[in-house]
Amino acid sequence: MSELTLRPAGDITPMPGIDMTTRLASVTFPNPVFTASGCAAAGQELDQFFDVAELGGIVTKSIMMAPRSGRATPRMAETPSGMLNSIGLQGPGIDAFLDKDLSWLSHRGARAVVSIAGGTVDDYAKLTAKLRGRPGLAMIEVNISCPNVEDRGQVFACDPHASAAVIQAVKRAAPTGVPVFAKLSPDVTDIVSIAQACVGAGADGLSLINTLLGMVIDTDTLRPALAGVTGGLSGPAIRPVAVRCVWQVRQALPDVPILGMGGIRTGLDALEFVLAGANAVSVGTTVFGDPRAPVRVLDELARALADRGFERFEDAIGLAHKPPVIHVPEGPDPVGDEPTPNEHRPVSFEGEA
Ligand code: FUM
Repeated sequence: MSELTLRPAGDITPMPGIDMTTRLASVTFPNPVFTASGCAAAGQELDQFFDVAELGGIVTKSIMMAPRSGRATPRMAETPSGMLNSIGLQGPGIDAFLDKDLSWLSHRGARAVVSIAGGTVDDYAKLTAKLRGRPGLAMIEVNISCPNVEDRGQVFACDPHASAAVIQAVKRAAPTGVPVFAKLSPDVTDIVSIAQACVGAGADGLSLINTLLGMVIDTDTLRPALAGVTGGLSGPAIRPVAVRCVWQVRQALPDVPILGMGGIRTGLDALEFVLAGANAVSVGTTVFGDPRAPVRVLDELARALADRGFERFEDAIGLAHKPPVIHVPEGPDPVGDEPTPNEHRPVSFEGEA
């Protein structure tokens, strides 16, 4: 274990009598709602709107070895039900991040999920080594899927061997007891094969999904809207893609924890991810317009679970993979094949018996 002190769940947001704890590999979090990397820096800006320690965790903007100014502007564009960004991994570099950001999160009692990004396998190993022994570190998210790099060959998550090489190097360097999650791209033909390669290389879990590569052309300037030409698409427009990825990976790897994300705006959106198989969710793009969204989503999710008769969050994880059940009321059995009282039977579809 890291030196993280987890606050007890009861200390946090009042919930409608529901156990919201969730386990991601070796770490139990008081609730399943996290920020999404890249949408809330390292949490300081959100702290004026709510106590960042109320969330399951704060996933930080991906950090690289050296400070980086990112791509040229403009680097954001609106899209239908979404947003396109080509930030280009702007950040202060790992040393300044550790001094200012991670120490602040630790001081606030937040559970930090540090997202790391590199141009080479060695970068990832070095970044991970720098995280050893850091208080407040709850988990490492390995961003192998940023679409905003000069060279598509650097999108490690588009290739199972490249993905595995990064994850293996990170696992070797990672502090004991700190789960390593690989963040995958939806821009592949078969996300399951990438997920399997990462898990085979030692990933403790998977973050699904990063943005989709997209493009907007400005019909006034007659040129690409983004200086970087292409960008990553996020927001509600990508939610069905993200839910599909979570579903496919949960089906193939039923025991691997998943942090699900992609266009979550409400508790019901979050519930969709959970039913598809996510053990926790990250709230991202919506934070730009509604900075309190993560705590609101947490509250709405708890209420949605309570309304549906759940007492424990974890009982809802992956439930959509199970056959639906109907409750058969007690009563006379005219044909002799009724279930016993309170027996649940799968609902049949399309005339199947
Ligand atoms: O451009 C960016 O900084 C985005 C990173 C990402 O989507 O991983």
